Amino acid sequence: MKLNIAVLPGDGIGPEIVEQALNVTKAVCEKFGHELNYKTGLVGAAAIDACGDPYPEETHKLCMDSDAVLFGAVGSLKYDNDPKAKIRPEQGLLSMRKKLGLYANIRPVSVFPSLISRSPLKNRLVRNVDFLCIRELTGGIYFGRPQGRSEDGNSAVDTCTYSREEIERILKLGFEFASKRRKKLTVVDKANVLETSRLWRQIAQEMAPQYPYIEVEYLYVDNAAMRIIQWPRSFDVIVTENMFGDILTDEASVITGSLGMLPSASIGLHTSVYEPIHGSYPQAAGKNIANPFAAVLSAAMMFEQTFGLSEEGKLIREAVTVAMDAGYVTEDITTGIFKKARSTAAVGRWLVKYIRK
Ligand code: IPM
Ligand code: MN
Repeated sequence: MKLNIAVLPGDGIGPEIVEQALNVTKAVCEKFGHELNYKTGLVGAAAIDACGDPYPEETHKLCMDSDAVLFGAVGSLKYDNDPKAKIRPEQGLLSMRKKLGLYANIRPVSVFPSLISRSPLKNRLVRNVDFLCIRELTGGIYFGRPQGRSEDGNSAVDTCTYSREEIERILKLGFEFASKRRKKLTVVDKANVLETSRLWRQIAQEMAPQYPYIEVEYLYVDNAAMRIIQWPRSFDVIVTENMFGDILTDEASVITGSLGMLPSASIGLHTSVYEPIHGSYPQAAGKNIANPFAAVLSAAMMFEQTFGLSEEGKLIREAVTVAMDAGYVTEDITTGIFKKARSTAAVGRWLVKYIRK
């Protein structure tokens, strides 16, 4: 099979972890006899520095011409510490999502047994946790207009909007994923306060009878946040709007033992984007200490979801699991008897060697 992919390393630890994901991708392609073509593009602060635009037209064209995008992270301290900056790296990610029509972000939350002891929750609560969070990604308060400051700069506005069409297509995906799993869908909203949430809930209730075999549950977001730490095993598929999904998935990820473990797939109208959920972690950039597993597992999702190559994806997951069982990991997930931390590159090399053998 021919795989044409765009590689967007971005900022912070993005380049280091994407390098490992790419090496793993190359090794898998060699092993299974696939032809891999890839091109690298600029995004985020790296792109602002190079050409003043966090998502340059050239990068967009590259993504549109590719079958899939491997993405690192965007963000930089330079901009975090300057709330008045006119152009921000994150705008690059947001315009990429909008322009590629990436309306659904799929974030699987599952626990690796060897990491359970690192979870901030009691072991008995996290064992066997396995759910999927489907986050709406191109609507809501992230994109609603008006957005901005009053003339005197002393008041500000953000707007949350959702149309029926936007809600229906993401809920449909939620029902479909739930049908392929344990057949439970949790719709998370704030329908006791927000009109957009009431529309979500109304549409979900209208759609539910088409899926009589799915148990649908409705949770307010504050309650959902609580349940994720109190009873995470109660979830199968969660579907929610953009900002609630952003917040809940950070929370969900840490209960697995490390934010550095969770991959994601953003899917929609054009090319899909595969990215770790952890962000650019600028404090660790260039130190060769960042955990490459989330990026590598994102590559596994790419093989499975864009190319339908499940054996390839499975081999990557297996390599990651074996590396963890052998304690061949970066400093954020060393545990118990395995105290020695390996570098990002060393972990990458280990995975490549495992895949080749
Ligand atoms: C994420 C990130 C982004 C978001 C930021 C970097 C704009 O936190 O992908 O979860 O809020 O969507
Ligand atoms: Mn986030």
